[in-house]
Amino acid sequence: MTLTNHDTDRPAAEASLPALRITDAWKSFGHVAALRGVSLTVRGGEVLALVGDNGAGKSTLVKVLSGVYPVDSGEIAVAGVPLEKADPRLARARGISTVFQDLAVVETLDIAANVFLGQPLRRFGILADRKKMIAQSAEILRSLKVRVPSVRVAAGELSGGQRQGVAIARAVRQDTPIILMDEPTAALGVRETAQVGEIIRSLREQGKAVILVCHDLEFIFAHADRIQVLRLGQVQGVRDVSATTRSEIVSLITGATARDEDLEATN
Ligand SMILES: Nc1ncnc2c1ncn2[C@@H]1O[C@H](COP(=O)(O)OP(=O)(O)O)[C@@H](O)[C@H]1O
Ligand SMILES: [Mg+2]
Repeated sequence: MTLTNHDTDRPAAEASLPALRITDAWKSFGHVAALRGVSLTVRGGEVLALVGDNGAGKSTLVKVLSGVYPVDSGEIAVAGVPLEKADPRLARARGISTVFQDLAVVETLDIAANVFLGQPLRRFGILADRKKMIAQSAEILRSLKVRVPSVRVAAGELSGGQRQGVAIARAVRQDTPIILMDEPTAALGVRETAQVGEIIRSLREQGKAVILVCHDLEFIFAHADRIQVLRLGQVQGVRDVSATTRSEIVSLITGATARDEDLEATN
């Protein structure tokens, strides 16, 4: 067998491609235009923070990238390969897992069942392998430094931080190259927020591409590489954390300064 150019070129080409890219995405709910021509890229080993006021379109963008909502127009590509349709299972199979803002845990199920929600481990292809799920979920939570009395405890009995830990464990367990987190630190205390920070740091060290929706600028400046600002469904700007300030980001969020393209137009 001879190697074609295509085969030999592929590794280098893949290394230079963003892990995840969305291009010119539009999405309306009735007459509300939630996304208006949004583009975004994130690379492996990078944490991209997505910020913006309430209603800016952050969660809609996360759901579009996760296959929950179809876009009205625009393209999503994973490692350069377009996703042909909006389907959460397809998105997951292609390497995207998500910690959603509004879906955390099923309170009546225990922690192990929550970590393996929708994708239970099986024995002989049919029976749920409880023993393995209990052992593995305990191990994942330990590695994330999320402390729980036992993974057999119902999720409804957990604190906000523990629930968020379980939701993150579910995403981490899938071991996908791309992880989206929608406000993972909202409603968490100081110590629990620091724990989420540790998890993000370790995901990035493992080379994962992380998109982090977050309101906490201190947290973002501590953990993100780049910051992308959305306002009323449009991208206001993208900044390297090392080359911006909190006040510039706040101005972009509130619309107090001209957008990048407005600046370019007047230059
Ligand atoms: N399922 C939906 N049905 C109707 N409108 C929606 C829906 N989801 C979001 N929206 C609207 O889209 C806009 C963006 O919302 P969202 O993406 O949740 O913003 P963010 O997460 O930045 O606060 C808002 O005006 C919101 O009311
Ligand atoms: Mg939101």
